[in-house]
Amino acid sequence: MKVDVLLGLQWGDEGKGKVVDFLAPQYNVVARFQGGPNAGHTLEFDGHKHVLHQIPSGIFRENIKNIIGNGVVLDPVVFKEEIGALGKFNIDFTKNLFLSKKTTLILPSHKLLDAAFEKAKGKNKIGSTLKGIGPTYQDKIARNGLRIGDILAPGFEERYRNLVNKHERTLSHYDFEYDLKEAEAPFFEAIEFLRGFNLVNSEYLINNCIKSSETILAEGAQGSLLDIDFGSYPYVTSSNTMTAGACTGLGVAPQNIGSVIGIFKAYCTRVGGGPFPTELFDEVGEAIQNEGHEFGATTGRPRRCGWLDLPALKYAIMINGVTELYMMKADVLSILDEIKVCTHYKLSDGTLTEEMPFQLVDEDVEPVYDSLPGWKKDLTGVTDKNEFPQELNDYVSYIEKATGVKIKVVSVGPDRIQTINL
Ligand code: GDP
Ligand code: IMO
Ligand code: MG
Repeated sequence: MKVDVLLGLQWGDEGKGKVVDFLAPQYNVVARFQGGPNAGHTLEFDGHKHVLHQIPSGIFRENIKNIIGNGVVLDPVVFKEEIGALGKFNIDFTKNLFLSKKTTLILPSHKLLDAAFEKAKGKNKIGSTLKGIGPTYQDKIARNGLRIGDILAPGFEERYRNLVNKHERTLSHYDFEYDLKEAEAPFFEAIEFLRGFNLVNSEYLINNCIKSSETILAEGAQGSLLDIDFGSYPYVTSSNTMTAGACTGLGVAPQNIGSVIGIFKAYCTRVGGGPFPTELFDEVGEAIQNEGHEFGATTGRPRRCGWLDLPALKYAIMINGVTELYMMKADVLSILDEIKVCTHYKLSDGTLTEEMPFQLVDEDVEPVYDSLPGWKKDLTGVTDKNEFPQELNDYVSYIEKATGVKIKVVSVGPDRIQTINL
């Protein structure tokens, strides 16, 4: 059996959580491979709306093993809160939740460093979620990190103290006031809490599942345009959000990757700072934001909105090897008479290109648009593709032709059931 990978092709919040929950009954295992509590994956079903941050989105389906992989950075305090919020759902975590011992821990001081670094950047700040993501990956790569498995060994507290001392020395160079003591008691309570879960060598668990023909879905967080290598650097997150990240973040060999499911919105959004070529600053952008309830699931910040960006989408498809597309939030565009799609970028020297420039941040790209008619029909009650208006079919065909990849599913609302198979 191969591992299918599901990931966002834009700047995050494409609707990954909804789709993982929708697809989960087809899988035995759902595994997160990167990111941490910066993610906010929203699931809606049976009148419940639930936001997951670190726990995989297969958690609500019975008989599924949910794995938090080694590539994730985990905040134990957020983990404890997430488990608490799942209390009313009667989930047996002993059977369906596994955490890699190699997952790196986010300490309270990582969050302080995140805030201090952002403050020092001034107007060039990244717009980080301030969950400690960057500083924790920094420590991992610098070989200073503490991992979940370390909490089982003697001397954890001493190693914690050594790392925090390092962090405090760094913080002393910043104009930044903080109170670490207050955050430490909940952190150590959460570490105790974590000991009660299945802490495993998840690379063995997952490879044994592959051997015994269990079906596995790897759940990406963030989106390809936030990837540390290929995103709009430096306005990115600190992990590889792309398919290759599933290999390193779970211990899966490249030849064991199967389908790559690319999730994208019928338009674009971005939360936080950084370049966004098709961003709308007018009443159309505002209308999309209101209709799509485009406010961050983790931070509540308004999401910037704009037209679908084909050069960026094609780039994401290329670096990920996307085999099928899922188009989300088609219902949101029902309010529009005209829908625009960016086909090319015009560079400052006047040349047209379909490629992403090296540095979106410095290159003043002007999007070149095609215009398509809107469908002006409420889609939220549609249950079959035969009910799609012709203009929506045309929009789907247009994107398929431009990208060379089939759109397999169109999502017409936030609920599990508002998902139309093509
Ligand atoms: P994720 O981070 O990729 O899992 O996405 P988020 O949960 O952060 O953001 C997606 C938002 O859109 C959530 O509020 C979802 O409930 C909602 N959503 C998902 N699919 C659809 C859809 O097809 N239509 C509408 N209107 N909302 C959707
Ligand atoms: P999901 O999984 C949207 C953005 C932040 C900021 C940048 C760096 O829900 O799609 P970080 O906290 O990682 O240092 O922030 O990345 N960002 C996201 N935007 N969805 C996310 O996750 C995001 N995770 C991080 O807003 O611009
Ligand atoms: Mg989100």
